[in-house]
Amino acid sequence: MIKPVILAGGSGTRLWPLSRTLYPKQFLKINSEYTLIQDTVNRLSNLPCELPLTICNEDHRFIAAEQLRAIDRLGPILLEPVGKNTAPAIALAALSCISNDEDPILLVLSADHVIENVAEFERVVNNSVALAQEGKLITFGIVPTHAETGYGYIKKGDKRSDSQGINVDSFVEKPNQATAEQYLNCGEYLWNSGMFMFKASRYIEELKKYRADIYKSCYRAMAATSTDLDFIRIDAEEFGKCPSDSIDYAVMEPLCKSQGSDSVVVMPLAANWSDIGSFSAIWDVSDKDQNNNVHTGDVLSHHSTNNLIMAENMLVTTVGIENTVVIQTKDAVLVASKGQGQDVKAIVNQLSKLN
Ligand code: GDD
Ligand code: MG
Repeated sequence: MIKPVILAGGSGTRLWPLSRTLYPKQFLKINSEYTLIQDTVNRLSNLPCELPLTICNEDHRFIAAEQLRAIDRLGPILLEPVGKNTAPAIALAALSCISNDEDPILLVLSADHVIENVAEFERVVNNSVALAQEGKLITFGIVPTHAETGYGYIKKGDKRSDSQGINVDSFVEKPNQATAEQYLNCGEYLWNSGMFMFKASRYIEELKKYRADIYKSCYRAMAATSTDLDFIRIDAEEFGKCPSDSIDYAVMEPLCKSQGSDSVVVMPLAANWSDIGSFSAIWDVSDKDQNNNVHTGDVLSHHSTNNLIMAENMLVTTVGIENTVVIQTKDAVLVASKGQGQDVKAIVNQLSKLN
């Protein structure tokens, strides 16, 4: 059985004002009747998976539990007193399920991805199990369509004879624009989808090598856990001392640099994957009208093209605008150029200084 680990501790600042500190994007319905986290878990229903282990901030415990219970997939929820990014979050998950007789295969998933072709996702995940069992760390790679600087890039090495996997020559997290363009144009790179599969012990082994400091803090934080209802609480003081870093920088980059193709395998995934990381990503995955606009709520547009307009509780009207994002919520309105979606978090940073 595979143990799914759902990373749900992000704050989704690039989707402000839709995504809020108290209600981040993974708990929102974006383009489906289910929320992003519910879709993430529902996507596993035909795979040999246990109930998911979810990791999120303790402030969101009731929202997470309620949404998982609503789809009848409520498993344990590990609560972080503070977000320390994905390397520690995955370490807590791995440590929580390793015991004398258990070392499960973890399928680490972001709670904010859209995957349209679920059958292809299932096929690729099923094909990865044997490699994970052997001790490989599996990444799932997406053919890049533009020079995105918000993603990790995986350089393809040799094709493996034992699977559809490809050895990994290098892993570069969030390159700058010029480097991303070079990677896109040379055709030798895949995007890192941010989903991983490995035995729990293999992740811990590599984390110990490259970030013993993170490992130690997580180990100590897990040494004093308490459980109430479905929630697992960790030692807040120990976890507070943990350095903050992502799995990509803390483990994948140095691991691929030092051991190249030996330990890491990328499984190409052509399943219409999308990270709902910005408003332009929402526009990409949504149904459009004849002028290429995506509208939700009460919106009236004239001579307007390629826009994303979301109205929560007012009539929003536009005339003659293009490639623009307009997000109206009860207490805030964002108007932004669709191409500058990654910069929305700059507004959130400014606001947090004011508050
Ligand atoms: N529990 C927990 N705690 N979850 C977290 C934390 C945390 O402190 N920080 C982030 N997450 C969750 C987010 O909610 C999201 O589901 C996932 O971890 C990934 O975090 P992001 O912050 O969205 O990462 P990213 O998009 O910048 O980059 C990652 O994903 C890209 C693809 O979407 C990297 O893996 C990139 O290499 C990759 O290309
Ligand atoms: Mg993301």
